[in-house]
Amino acid sequence: MKGLFITFEGIDGCGKTTQIEMLSGDLQKEGIPFVLIREPGGTSIGEKIRTILLDKANSGMDERTELLLYEAARAQIVREKIIPELQSGKVVICDRFYDSTIAYQGYARGLDLKEIDFLNNWSAAGIKPDITFLLDLDEETAYRRRHGRSDEEDRLEAEGLLFMKKVRGGYLSRSKEDARFQVLDALKTPEEIYQQIRKTVWEVVQK
Ligand SMILES: Nc1ncnc2c1ncn2[C@@H]1O[C@H](COP(=O)(O)OP(=O)(O)OP(=O)(O)O)[C@@H](O)[C@H]1O
Ligand SMILES: [Mg+2]
Repeated sequence: MKGLFITFEGIDGCGKTTQIEMLSGDLQKEGIPFVLIREPGGTSIGEKIRTILLDKANSGMDERTELLLYEAARAQIVREKIIPELQSGKVVICDRFYDSTIAYQGYARGLDLKEIDFLNNWSAAGIKPDITFLLDLDEETAYRRRHGRSDEEDRLEAEGLLFMKKVRGGYLSRSKEDARFQVLDALKTPEEIYQQIRKTVWEVVQK
């Protein structure tokens, strides 16, 4: 496949969207074709699934139901968008991908990691990110960053700091197992973080 598949991961409020906006601004300026993808969601079926997942009225959702909804949204977006865009040579940037499932549903909720890996690969048709930027941040700072935001807390965000601590630990464990991860210190300023991202991405796109 000719394109470049980049994913951004990290706990809620670590700065993924901020960095993705900086990267897309740069790609745009330099005329490098790219698409932005949001997981779960990004397709009309996926956006409906996202609404179910974030709805506070669904607090009784079984954790397996939750897992399968994420995987269902993923199966759709991988085939409907990610694979075709990569085949056309674009840079595909995903705001969360299957590492989120391992960190949230696996390490934090406690579902079996091997079973999740199987479902992740099955839904993703075996495709794998070329680069995964993990914005590593402690849960208290992330909480404080989010606090100023006007968004109503969604069902996942209401679960608190302990949950986020487990998510963070899960991401860090995963990052040690796979060379595609680049772990970034998200306590730095957005500009400092972005310089590292730009360097890594430009080394690849300029080849
Ligand atoms: N490096 C940084 N230093 C300080 N504040 C930051 C930094 N990066 C982002 N922020 C601020 O922190 C808040 C959360 O950032 P952002 O929305 O980018 O995080 P996110 O990872 O996309 O969150 P979510 O998981 O909820 O989508 C925003 O108010 C943003 O302006
Ligand atoms: Mg975001």
